Amino acid sequence: MSLTIASAPGKVILFGEHAVVSGVPALGAAIDLRVRARIEDAPGKLEISIPDMRLVIEGFSLDLITEKVLTEDISKKAILAARYVYAVLKRFDASNLRVVVESEIPPSSGLGSSASVVVATLAALNHHQELGLSLEDLAWESHQVEKEVQSGLGSPMDTALATFGGYQLIQAGPQQSLDLPELDLVVGWTGVPHDTKFEVEKVQNFRTKYPHIVGPIFESIGEISREALNLMKDGQLEELGQLMNANHGLLEAIGVGTKELSDLAYAARGAGEALGAKLTGAGGGGCIIAIPPTDPQGLVKTMTAISQAGGKPFHVATGCEGARLE
Ligand code: MEV
Repeated sequence: MSLTIASAPGKVILFGEHAVVSGVPALGAAIDLRVRARIEDAPGKLEISIPDMRLVIEGFSLDLITEKVLTEDISKKAILAARYVYAVLKRFDASNLRVVVESEIPPSSGLGSSASVVVATLAALNHHQELGLSLEDLAWESHQVEKEVQSGLGSPMDTALATFGGYQLIQAGPQQSLDLPELDLVVGWTGVPHDTKFEVEKVQNFRTKYPHIVGPIFESIGEISREALNLMKDGQLEELGQLMNANHGLLEAIGVGTKELSDLAYAARGAGEALGAKLTGAGGGGCIIAIPPTDPQGLVKTMTAISQAGGKPFHVATGCEGARLE
């Protein structure tokens, strides 16, 4: 029986979220938390299984899109993950398969888990069914699937990072892969889910009301992204941390901060001795990122501080490999 396993990384936005919606540059990085998709032949069946979320769905007749057949005790997050998997299978008319998806990325946290589920599943299907998709096709098709499940919403950054890995700079026009060194970061998850669409609309409404106030804030965020690129190239972590703090303050100014996010950011910078910390992604919940101090105990200090402030810390390396066969 033939078996294919593929994986894809999650992502963080290092600098520039929200301002990027209005065309200023943002910098995103793939992180080494991965989603793995295993596909094997299952004659006469189509099964999707998300074992770490205790969900197994069998049969082609189940309507995953309307959730009709699913019982209440199955977690919403697993249902959502299954919808992305199902959308990939449907787009490529796949059948007679069993798909098992396992994720290290907390769902609804702004770390790109849905894009990684789609890319890992399609990368596995591409090999298993010999679809002949290039990496560019994989990124494009995955973006279409994400948008389809999310009613037309979805930034191409997430699927590009899950496919190509590394770093991506986005601004008006096509995004661009960047060659930058690896960075050790601590991600702090608040455990509070967030709603990207809601946060983006809120910020854009604020901008429409006060363009002369929000416009310059976006410009400053764009300057931070540009400056950060050079600092990363040169490994100037203290200065990079300072810009992270400034970017966090500007995100607070446009209304996407929360007490939970700032509690984690200040704990990381205070007891955790982080060189800088900011919220990452849409805000309103989700995660912060922090640069731990470079001394041998640095990582533990920052992770402990985040944990003591009520967050869940993850150590991640940025700029890691994109979609791959395992
Ligand atoms: C969300 O991860 C990032 C935002 O900038 C939205 C987007 O770029 O699509 C808030």
